[in-house]
Amino acid sequence: MKQKNNMGSAKFITLEGMEGAGKTTCLKFIRGYFDALEIPLLITREPGGTPFAEEIRSLLLSPREEKVSDEVELLLMFAARAQHLEQKIMPALQSGRWVLSDRFTDATYAYQGGGRGIDSADIERLEQMVQKGLQPDLTLFLNIPIEIGLARARGRGELDRFEQQEVDFFERTRDVYLQRAEQYASRFVVIDTNRSLDDVYESISQALDQFVKG
Ligand SMILES: Nc1ncnc2c1ncn2[C@@H]1O[C@H](COP(=O)(O)OP(=O)(O)OP(=O)(O)O)[C@@H](O)[C@H]1O
Ligand SMILES: [Mg+2]
Repeated sequence: MKQKNNMGSAKFITLEGMEGAGKTTCLKFIRGYFDALEIPLLITREPGGTPFAEEIRSLLLSPREEKVSDEVELLLMFAARAQHLEQKIMPALQSGRWVLSDRFTDATYAYQGGGRGIDSADIERLEQMVQKGLQPDLTLFLNIPIEIGLARARGRGELDRFEQQEVDFFERTRDVYLQRAEQYASRFVVIDTNRSLDDVYESISQALDQFVKG
């Protein structure tokens, strides 16, 4: 994370993408990449990452009858993130461990901003409060056509509260991801995952080579 993280050499990497884009699959490949270089890497995920934040994740993802407002959803995302940063991400970076997170704040802009329609200024205020200017050093955005990603995700079984949304919701979400990839091009790399895993891994290796080895 740029500012605080400049003190040490450990970097904060995030993996983003729509459902079924291949984030969890690619994490395993990235684990192997860092192991081969003997760079200590902590792998984590959002929402969640600590026991308390994982409880918030369960609240957020389980389908339920009671209406949960968009604002409540947004606040819980940042509540989980604050806990995750304080208890897990920052201590790891400060001790020299790199961190790789399956989703982070770009997902909040995409899902709660693009998908739900929350004003991005509201998200920015919470981002500032919780992250205090900190940003990922590298974000890999795994890009996949929505229908293909959803079909892959559905192959895994029951749908969570987000996976049950309409296609329009996902279109708006993906649009925000793509806008942010352009806006923050210096930290984003877009990886087309509508290809064989070998091709995907090749692109990820190239992006990591450039980032890690310069
Ligand atoms: N390039 C690929 N080609 C074919 N199948 C793939 C590819 N990448 C991932 N898959 C498969 O698609 C499914 C979804 O992948 P994965 O769980 O990694 O996605 P995800 O981005 O983590 O999804 P979610 O957002 O729902 O957590 C898995 O069954 C995985 O094996
Ligand atoms: Mg996943």
